[in-house]
Order: sequence, then C-alpha cells, then structure tokens
Amino acid sequence: MNPESRIYVAGRKTLIGAALLRRLKAGGYTRVIEPSPDPDAGDPRQVDRFFETARPDYVFCAAGRSGGILANQKYPADLMRDNLLSACHLLESARRHGTKKLLYLASSCSYPKHASQPMKVESLLTGPLEATNEGYAVAKIAGLTLCRAYRRQYGVKFVCGIPGDPFGPGDDFDPEDSHVVAALIRKIHEAKEAQAGSATLWGTGAPRRGFIYADDLAEACIFVMLRYDGSEPINIAGDWDLSIRELAEAIRDVVGFQGTLFFDSSKPDGCPVKVLDSSPLFGMGWRPTGKLHEALKATYDWFLEKTDAPSARISS
Ligand SMILES: NC(=O)c1ccc[n+]([C@@H]2O[C@H](COP(=O)([O-])OP(=O)(O)OC[C@H]3O[C@@H](n4cnc5c(N)ncnc54)[C@H](OP(=O)(O)O)[C@@H]3O)[C@@H](O)[C@H]2O)c1
Repeated sequence: MNPESRIYVAGRKTLIGAALLRRLKAGGYTRVIEPSPDPDAGDPRQVDRFFETARPDYVFCAAGRSGGILANQKYPADLMRDNLLSACHLLESARRHGTKKLLYLASSCSYPKHASQPMKVESLLTGPLEATNEGYAVAKIAGLTLCRAYRRQYGVKFVCGIPGDPFGPGDDFDPEDSHVVAALIRKIHEAKEAQAGSATLWGTGAPRRGFIYADDLAEACIFVMLRYDGSEPINIAGDWDLSIRELAEAIRDVVGFQGTLFFDSSKPDGCPVKVLDSSPLFGMGWRPTGKLHEALKATYDWFLEKTDAPSARISS
C-alpha cells in the first residue's frame, strides 16, 4: 500500500471506519475512495458493481453492525445476518476484482466465553461462546474463517484482525447500542447535568477490559495492512487494561462530575476479565501512542458536539 493506492474502507462513517479514514488521510494516502452512497454490503449486486468500477487495491472491512449487550439481546438475527452477508459479499467482490489485500475486522466476541486471559488466537474455536452475543460472534467467526478459506483456495492476501474494545469520536452513544466507554460517558454526563450527588453504574466495577483508542486502532490496522500477511487472525489491542471502576473514575475526571460513583452490584458484571494478547503485534514493532485522558476527552468533546448540550459544553 502506498500513497497512490486506491483504498476502500467499508463502514467508513462509524467509529472504526471513520478513524481509519482520518488516519489514512493524515498519513498521506490520497486515493481513499468515498462513494456516495456507499454500496449496501448486504446486496451482492451493489457491492460487485462498486468493486467493478472503483477497483480498490486495498480494502478495510469495518462494515457489519455491532452493539452492546442490549442490542445483542434484542436484535441477534439482524446483527448476525448483517455481518454474515457483509463478509460474504465484500470478500467475494474483492477476490473477483483483483483487490491486492484486504483486512477483515472480527471481534473479541469471537473468543470462547472461558478462554484463558489474555486471549491468544490459539483459543479461537476451542469452546462455547458467550450466549448473549452468540449470533454476532458466530458471524464474525465465519468472517475470519472465510478469510482463511479464500487464502487457501484463491491464494489472495486476505487477513483478519481482532480489535480490543475501541472508543473514540464517532462512537455510538445510543443507550441501547452503546459499548461500555460510551455508556459510562453518557451516564456520568447525565448525572452531572442533573446535578446529582451520584451516578449509578451497572455491576461491581471489578471486571477488566482491554481498551484501545479508535485512532490507535486505525493506525494498527494500517500497520497490519502494510506488515502482516498470515492466515491466522492477529489481535489488535492497546495497553489500557482497566477495571470498569478505573475507567469510570477516569471518565468522571474528564466529564468534571463532582459526585460519587455508585456501583450497583445487583446488576450483572459479565466476564471478570476480557483482554486480548497483542504481543504478536507488539513484537512486530507496533505500539499505541494515545494517552487515556486525551482520548477520553476527545470522545467526550465529540459526544457534547453531537448531543448539543450547551451547559455541559460551556463547562468542559
Ligand atoms: N465497536 C466495537 O466495539 C467493535 C469491536 C470489535 C469489532 N468491531 C467490528 O468492527 C466493525 C466496525 O465497528 P464500528 O463500531 O465502527 O461500527 P458499528 O457502529 O458497529 O457500525 C457498523 C458499520 O458498518 C456499516 N454497515 C453495516 N451494515 C452495512 C451494510 N449492509 N452495508 C454497508 N455498510 C454497513 C455501518 O454503516 P451505516 O451506519 O451507514 O449503516 C457502520 O459504518 C464492525 O463490523 C464491528 O463488528 C467493533
């Protein structure tokens, strides 16, 4: 991949894809394809027509809906179908139209529920999945397996990355769809707005997760596109291994909430620890550069801009 390469980011308007677009442009890649409208990855004809005319050399597959626990419980069929179809159609059209390399993004949900921590790719497909997001996880496993199958059958350079828990500008703050960072920012911000003495958060605060700033993730994806060409997926996480309590405290500082954080232990915690082993990526020479406070602040600023909350914006 060089500055002249034709690059397409599927899913370029949301968290990961938007960060990829930002980092590619900042990195001097001048031929990033931005079709209007984007092809619907669920429709094989639209996808194929796009690849036939645009002929992207490099493709980042960040399309396919994801969501938090509520979205996974309410829309398991939609999430599974969207991810299955997106992977099938994007990979097949990339193969048919001569894409030089493709990076498919799976998910840490692809790992078995009881995988040993930190999770290594050797654990994939070795045990039962977390039931609440099984449909989505199976679709992502299908996507990563499809990359391997295309490599074996067609000799194409399709690789798969498994991101940690990303957050950043462009994150989904919808109470039903959001992941933990966005959900905590919203709750703590709302407690501040309401001048409440405390913000109530789900669970004990003890579970640990491996967070990564979306721009670091995007840089890592570009690095993987440039430097990795293996049939095994590669974990892409940063080095912020935090408990939910530590994360919430950092968000409280960024939001400027003076109240206390109350952890409601009657609500579920989920897995006690879920972090990815990124040592293979780090061993190749990549390291995240983002700073936690700055990354959370950029995310909060974006949220304020989108929610148009004047009082909060003044005090931020
Ligand atoms: N966010 C996370 O925590 C996380 C973690 C690991 C992996 N991932 C994976 O990384 C990818 C990107 O995640 P994200 O959080 O940035 O995005 P997201 O909020 O899950 O949204 C999915 C993206 O895919 C696009 N998309 C969905 N269905 C599509 C279709 N049929 N045709 C074309 N585009 C479609 C959406 O475009 P529209 O908005 O225009 O529909 C959106 O840009 C997803 O596949 C997700 O599974 C996400």
